[in-house]
Formats: sequence, structure tokens, C-alpha cells
Amino acid sequence: MFKWLQKLFIKRRKEIIMIAAIQNDRGIGYQGDLIHSIKADMKHFVAQTTGHTVIMGRKNWESIPKKYRPFKDRENIIITRDQNYDAKEALIVSSIEEAINKSSSEKIYIIGGGQIYTLGLTYADVLDLTIIHDTKPADVFFPEFKHDFKLTERSAVTHDEKSGLSYEFQLWSRK
Ligand SMILES: NC(=O)c1ccc[n+]([C@@H]2O[C@H](COP(=O)([O-])OP(=O)(O)OC[C@H]3O[C@@H](n4cnc5c(N)ncnc54)[C@H](OP(=O)(O)O)[C@@H]3O)[C@@H](O)[C@H]2O)c1
Repeated sequence: MFKWLQKLFIKRRKEIIMIAAIQNDRGIGYQGDLIHSIKADMKHFVAQTTGHTVIMGRKNWESIPKKYRPFKDRENIIITRDQNYDAKEALIVSSIEEAINKSSSEKIYIIGGGQIYTLGLTYADVLDLTIIHDTKPADVFFPEFKHDFKLTERSAVTHDEKSGLSYEFQLWSRK
């Protein structure tokens, strides 16, 4: 009951989107890093998230090259259990609920990694997914989502010459 009330309360007036690049088996990471690098996907990430809040796990934050963090022109929020965690120019919180409540923008992007996507799935309104048609080794996965979300938009499949990968953009909304 408490969880239900809390969910209603924190979602009021805020749109919560999870943005991720996932391969066919929902793999999103390997050995602390991304599996794929597609320039168009990076551009998509920047275009969608700029001007809004980005919420991420401590491991994801540490995997981002220092020159790119904090993500500029976005409110950066890091979730960790370490109450003394220090990251300049980012807000440190200890739960997904605290992250959502303390965000100052009305559009919130949950940007991973795996543990944080799993926590965020309960609260997400929309999934903004780049589907990469590949199955490289992965040790971190995006959670199963198809029972709760329906596909609402998809782009054409595009082939990226540089990486040799095919990908498409998909939007999923809560059923
Ligand atoms: N393909 C994509 O779109 C994408 C996007 C982002 C990341 N990734 C990949 O995902 C991987 C990282 O994901 P991950 O699952 O290992 O880690 P993560 O989700 O980024 O962060 C995990 C950390 O979050 C904190 N945390 C988790 N649950 C918590 C809770 N209930 N309360 C408070 N804090 C909590 C803990 O931090 P402390 O240990 O400090 O307490 C935990 O170690 C990397 O390989 C990265 O490259 C991929």
C-alpha cells in the first residue's frame, strides 16, 4: 500500500523515461563498459537528454570517461549506498525514489546501468530504446519489459558503416 501511494506521489507532474542501447538478448554492458559504440546512438542520447535530469547508478557514472561527466546541460543524479560518495557537480542520493523526488526537471531520464534500470522499470512511463541487432558477450542486461510496455514507434533499420552494426530506434509506452 505504501509503495502504491509513494509511486502515485513521486510520479505526479514528472515524465520518466528510461533510455538505453540494448542488443537482441537485452545485453547492455560487458566488463564495466558499453558493448557497442554507434555515433548516431550517442547523438540520439545527447539530443533526448539535454535540458533534463539524468539519473544513473554509481557504476555507470564511474564508467563514463571523465571528460564527458557530468553530462553537460543536464542535472546529473547518482544513486549509491555510500553516504560519503563524492562526485563534483552531481547530486548524490541513496534510492531511485529520492532521485526522482529531488530532480528539478519535469522530464527525467534514467540512463542506467542494469541495476538502476531494474529499479526504474516500476516508475518508467516510456522506454526510449536503441535496438542493436547483435549478440556480443554481455554481463549486464536491461530488464524484461514487454509484459508491461507496448511498442508505439519504431524507426527504419539503419546500417552503421563504421561499426558494421544494424540498429533501430524504438519507443515503448506503459500499457
Ligand atoms: N547500453 C546502455 O545503454 C548502457 C547504459 C548505461 C550503462 N551501461 C552499462 O551498464 C553497466 C553498469 O551497470 P551495473 O548494473 O553494473 O551498475 P549501475 O546500475 O550503473 O550501478 C550500480 C550501483 O548503483 C547503486 N545502487 C544499486 N541499487 C541501489 C539501491 N537499491 N539503493 C542505493 N544504491 C543502489 C550501488 O552503488 P554503490 O555500490 O556505490 O552503493 C550499485 O553498485 C556498465 O557495463 C555500463 O557500461 C549500458
